Amino acid sequence: MSQPAPDVRQEVSQLRAELDDANYRYYVLDEPTLSDADYDRKFQRLKTLEDENPALVTPDSPTQRVGAAPADGFPEVAHAIPMLSLDNAFSREDIHAFAERVAERLEKEADDIEFSCEPKLDGAAVSLVYEQGVLVSGATRGDGRTGEGITSNLRTLGSVPLKLMGENVPELLEVRGEVIMRHAGFEALNERAREEGSKVFANPRNAAAGSLRQLDPRITAKRPLEFHAYQAARLEPDLGDTTHSALMARLTTLGFRTSAELTTMKGPKAVADYCEQLGEKRDQLGYDIDGVVIKVNDLRHQRELGFVARAPRWAVAFKFPAQEEVTTLNEVEFQVGRTGAITPVARLEPVTVAGVTVANATLHNADEITRLGVMIGDTVAIRRAGDVIPQVVRVDTDKRPVDARPITFPDHCPVCGSQIERLDDEAVARCSGGLYCAAQRKEALKHFASRKALDIDGLGEKLIEQLVDLDWVKTPADLFHLTVEQLQSLPRMGEKSSRNLVNALDNAKSTTLARFIYALGIREVGEATASNLANHFGTLQALQDADQAGLEAVNDVGPVVAAHLYTFFRQPHNLETLQALIDAGITWQEAEVTQGPTPLDGQTWVLTGTLESMTRDEGKARLQALGAKVSGSVSKKTACLVAGEAAGSKLTKAEQMGVDVIDEATFIDRLAEWEQR
Ligand code: IVH
Repeated sequence: MSQPAPDVRQEVSQLRAELDDANYRYYVLDEPTLSDADYDRKFQRLKTLEDENPALVTPDSPTQRVGAAPADGFPEVAHAIPMLSLDNAFSREDIHAFAERVAERLEKEADDIEFSCEPKLDGAAVSLVYEQGVLVSGATRGDGRTGEGITSNLRTLGSVPLKLMGENVPELLEVRGEVIMRHAGFEALNERAREEGSKVFANPRNAAAGSLRQLDPRITAKRPLEFHAYQAARLEPDLGDTTHSALMARLTTLGFRTSAELTTMKGPKAVADYCEQLGEKRDQLGYDIDGVVIKVNDLRHQRELGFVARAPRWAVAFKFPAQEEVTTLNEVEFQVGRTGAITPVARLEPVTVAGVTVANATLHNADEITRLGVMIGDTVAIRRAGDVIPQVVRVDTDKRPVDARPITFPDHCPVCGSQIERLDDEAVARCSGGLYCAAQRKEALKHFASRKALDIDGLGEKLIEQLVDLDWVKTPADLFHLTVEQLQSLPRMGEKSSRNLVNALDNAKSTTLARFIYALGIREVGEATASNLANHFGTLQALQDADQAGLEAVNDVGPVVAAHLYTFFRQPHNLETLQALIDAGITWQEAEVTQGPTPLDGQTWVLTGTLESMTRDEGKARLQALGAKVSGSVSKKTACLVAGEAAGSKLTKAEQMGVDVIDEATFIDRLAEWEQR
């Protein structure tokens, strides 16, 4: 193998330093400096250089986080020092008692002892070993003596340094900490799982632990996990830090994330106050904590105090109330969301969960009810954390009463009575009432008035909400009967703006069939589909009359969209609304029915960067009119990428994937040529 040139080595090491730094700022400091596009570009460049020069690949390269092959199982890892647990404290008195015990052993006054307090993170404990500054092993806690070797999985976490940073790197470091999942990431993960019918996790701790125990590291890589360090179990040579708080600061300089809430204080009263304050902040942290870990700050004192059985004498865990409680499910009601989604809501026997009374919890959807196997009357476990809506996480079927009733999902909307639609591959059931359903009215009207729909100038969101709340507007047709006098009586509506709005409504009446179809807000019928439908059918009547097969014959319309369309036009009240709109004076020129296939039929195009001669929306519409699909991201299926000024990562990706790339001038020429045909 040929030796890489020195300038290649130089570039590789420069790129790695930049990527490591960007990673640290992003995952550890929460202060991103590099844009995603710049990061991707540098990453890809490094990857290319390493592919060309395999001799340069090292395990600590940022490219090597993912890539390990799936494992058959996890090896056992014996912990050099056992991973202990902590004694618990539940009250101020318990905290005082702990401080007194410590004081007595150290022959000091409790008020003179310095404590370091930090959140007790509710995740999965892991240990990371660094030799000569490089990560060599990562393991779970296991039974405290032996854990599972999950190095390949831990390497995929951005907050786990593959090599230590800075000048003063120890020969040996074993860092311990917690892998957590934030509420936002947890919610998104479960939301996706519910949609896909895959595993739903009861809480972020289970999600973190489950994600770490994946045999395929590529799965772990996709999970929003964070490592937070809280202890240096082994450190050689000693770097001279004499307190726990200084050691945590040291870990930050070596590349780890530590608790931003860590605070030191003297005496048990200050400690108890800290615990109380953190308890009040608990819901705003964005991740689960189950208490405060209180540690004697002086490391010499820690050594002096030592351990008993399975816990250190120098630390204690102050425990907050549990975030899960058990109660009875009294009833299930069905709510209709702003987009028509039907959500089953559990009405509960009120119960206090972590200090807050909970009487309702979400059951998400029909699949979730099946998954939980829950019935009315059941004893259920409720979880409440932060801003997350309380959820039913488990059912105790042993306690099921004899008169428990099954939960039946309605087939008609509880608000408007329209048919509820649930497509095979969708978890969510929806009211098909659309414009007609009071629960969806505001959203439907906002959509109806929006720029790409009827483009009604001066009809903003606030005004729509007022009009609906006053019951002046029930269907979009009602908009066209509003008078200047009526509008003028509203707060902040003068004569001029009222008159302008009435004029705008008048102007909006003459539109195109495509805009009109789009404005109806039929599920999954976006601008492009609406335009294809208009071109294909030519008249509203033809579209209304089409059957499933006829609808699926339209470019871009699959079985799902066809089903939405079919149901929409079969609801009597939707037909009434259509008629009312036409009676109100809405008109359009009938579109010319497109003959045969269009030049770009079946192709997917991507537009990126700034175009000089047209907006991106215009470019998109022209491509769609030629039969192309326009996507936001480059993939193997992309037929062509149009690269405007300052094109970024999409261009790089297209080039790497060998996708056709054209500039704006070529694009304009080709459009002109195709549009001639
Ligand atoms: S220090 C000798 N600090 O709590 C043990 N532990 O009950 C020193 N934990 O399994 C542990 N957050 O995983 C420490 N800030 C924190 C912690 C923390 C969570 C977990 C740890 C351990 C359990 C002990």
